[in-house]
Amino acid sequence: MDGRLTIGNIAASDLADEFGTPLVVYCESTIRARARAYRTAAPEALVVYGTKAFPNVAILRLLGEEGLGADVSTLGELAFARRAGMPGERLVVHGNNKSDDELRAAADADAAFVVVDSLEELDRCAAFGLERLLVRVTSGIEAETHEDIRTAYVGSKFGLTPEDAAEAVRRSRSVVGLHVHIGSQLLALAAVRESVAWLNRFADGLDLTPEVVDLGVGLVVPTQLREATPTIEEFVGALLDELDVEARLILEPGRSLVGRAGVTLYRVGVVKRAGGGRTWVAVDGGVSDNPRPQLYDARYTAIVADRAEAATSGTYSVAGKHCESGDVLIDLVELPEPRRGDVLAVPATGAYTLGMASNYNGVPRPAAVLVRNGDARLIRRRETIDDLLELEV
Ligand code: LLP
Repeated sequence: MDGRLTIGNIAASDLADEFGTPLVVYCESTIRARARAYRTAAPEALVVYGTKAFPNVAILRLLGEEGLGADVSTLGELAFARRAGMPGERLVVHGNNKSDDELRAAADADAAFVVVDSLEELDRCAAFGLERLLVRVTSGIEAETHEDIRTAYVGSKFGLTPEDAAEAVRRSRSVVGLHVHIGSQLLALAAVRESVAWLNRFADGLDLTPEVVDLGVGLVVPTQLREATPTIEEFVGALLDELDVEARLILEPGRSLVGRAGVTLYRVGVVKRAGGGRTWVAVDGGVSDNPRPQLYDARYTAIVADRAEAATSGTYSVAGKHCESGDVLIDLVELPEPRRGDVLAVPATGAYTLGMASNYNGVPRPAAVLVRNGDARLIRRRETIDDLLELEV
């Protein structure tokens, strides 16, 4: 459309006009294609969506249509999955501190598996009649990713030490499998392979014939446009290649299903020159709808939606509207002279953005739409200031 950015065959700026900004736009065919890529790469596996990446009923429903299940780690995520009609046999329940209510809800939902995260939880599961348990074991492997999203290093809050995991297997006949997950946004496959090789050796030494092994996922999603990272096929291929344990496989992708499928649209407000040669482009969102630059040093890029192919006029810094200097969405990006009223699109923002959004500065959280073949459907309405005031007593 003559230099206009389109998503699902709709101009991004038309979406911004119709639904307001900030707006997270999800491309349905991208999500479906990513889900199918997992199913094709591992046809026998149970693939469960890491709901935390973006808990949304419409997206869970369409992933359900693709044969996926859900990995849930709270009562809220479980409620989203159930509202989307996910059958119990495709639910995997996680959490490093599951409450009694959560264990009871897992039993009520007839969840396929509960992933046990401590020896005391193993005993509590028995009290709730939960009998299909996986033991999450901490391998000590340090994944190549931001340290806050590594999960399997020695001393992690997640999982059981190898000694306690072995004890769990000895103690309970309800243990039917093992779980490993080394982290999220994994930049390289070496540690992933190492983790599976570690699991092979660990399983070998146990008095257990695992019915299932759950390998988590954590595949990286590039946030820049032309960054080369492993594909779903390569990632799953590496897992399968390494795995010697004869058992049904579970995979738990979150980010790699919805990350690239989501684009956040902002409206440009103030554009101003600051000292030191910096020009700020301020948008109508920021750390409240995407805290990932601050939390994980995520580096996003941006496109002026209606001049997507125009020559750039310089390097700009994109700031949010929040009351602190650290509210910087993009430190430096080349753009064609941004102006008040332009729609700025930030790609690869479908995972852990709206799902981690806050009301900082009393800002209501954005809406989300799902687009396909020229149709756009609201899948999460914009929060209002009245919604926020509702909570005040
Ligand atoms: N399985 C388990 C047990 C997990 O803890 C996670 C993510 C996943 C699967 C899905 O991982 P994924 O495929 O999405 O990488 N807020 C952080 C990410 C936290 C990941 C939490 N666990 C971020 O924005 O980078």
